[in-house]
Amino acid sequence: MSMPQVSLRMASQKAMRQMADRNSPFILDEWYVVAFANEVGRALLKRTVLGLKLVMFRTQDGAPIAMEDRCAHRSYPLSAGTLSGDTIVCGYHGLRYDRAGNCIEVPSQQHCPKGIGVRTIPLIERGPFVWGWFGESSKADPLRIPTTSWLENGAWVSSQDYFDLPGNYVSLHENLLDLTHLSFVHAQSFGTPDYARAPYEVESKGGCFRITRSVVPTRLPPVWAQPTGLHHDHAARITTSEFRAPGLHVVSARFYDANLPVSSQPVYEIRTCHVPTPQTQGSTHYFIVHSRDFALQDSSVTEFMREQLMIAFREDVEVLSRLEDVLARPDPERYEISIASDGPAVAMRRYLFVRAQASIASPSPVG
Ligand code: FES
Ligand SMILES: [Fe+2]
Repeated sequence: MSMPQVSLRMASQKAMRQMADRNSPFILDEWYVVAFANEVGRALLKRTVLGLKLVMFRTQDGAPIAMEDRCAHRSYPLSAGTLSGDTIVCGYHGLRYDRAGNCIEVPSQQHCPKGIGVRTIPLIERGPFVWGWFGESSKADPLRIPTTSWLENGAWVSSQDYFDLPGNYVSLHENLLDLTHLSFVHAQSFGTPDYARAPYEVESKGGCFRITRSVVPTRLPPVWAQPTGLHHDHAARITTSEFRAPGLHVVSARFYDANLPVSSQPVYEIRTCHVPTPQTQGSTHYFIVHSRDFALQDSSVTEFMREQLMIAFREDVEVLSRLEDVLARPDPERYEISIASDGPAVAMRRYLFVRAQASIASPSPVG
């Protein structure tokens, strides 16, 4: 092997050992949720995603549109302008942009200069989500949108929520892959003392990282015991947490009576999409869609579970916010240690690090 090949290999091995953190560049060649579908309508919606300020709206024929929130003339935010048909009129000097971001009118002159406009972001709507692509447009393959097909399936009923999380998206993914924190962070909500010591299995393949934790037998917290009727201390709680993409994490759980054969009883399943979309290095749009496959017609169950879960997820937001306060002030004298239960999260963060480095190597054109 020649010297350059050796050093290239060593550099790539070193990159494999490094972990993404709040300072890592955003990974552009991925789909991210930019909004819930029901947020995008005929009012201009302003939102920062992957550090890019966007304005969004829905055309008269129902297509979601996202474009850079910055007029090509004197940089005025287009979100402060007006939506007129399927065009945006800048609120400063009236330049008009069509749905493709092209400037099509300059009121103060007869002719509109050709070739000026603002960047648009390819969007695709799937169920409750509007996904956006921030990499090179030619690579925006809809097949790469992580599947959430059960959300469009009548066998599940869902509720949705959102947090403006003052923390980095990597920290949120790590939190979701490390469910030992349930016994501590969520001691007053949906955690139980036996959770942190329960046996688990891990699996990783092709950019997916999964941990399954079996808490059996256990006493379910009210959020699960009440709607399932499993109020005793011999319930089974099998939870799988799965990083599916930088923009999607799915946590699913099954509950049943551990004293009965699984085949002779109902098994209750919940599935939660935790959707971390980077906003800035220190903030994340945290979209949540929580689904269940039981009590489908009972809206009081939906409301009860939603209320209880939001108490728990708010605990995560508070933890990650405190963590961000520390991480935002790096101290070169300090380093973190990892413990055995960090295995899946460490693998996931190494994967994100390598992907982020690749984003630097081939940055996407902005504007
Ligand atoms: S800044 Fe938008 S028209 Fe001048
Ligand atoms: Fe949590």
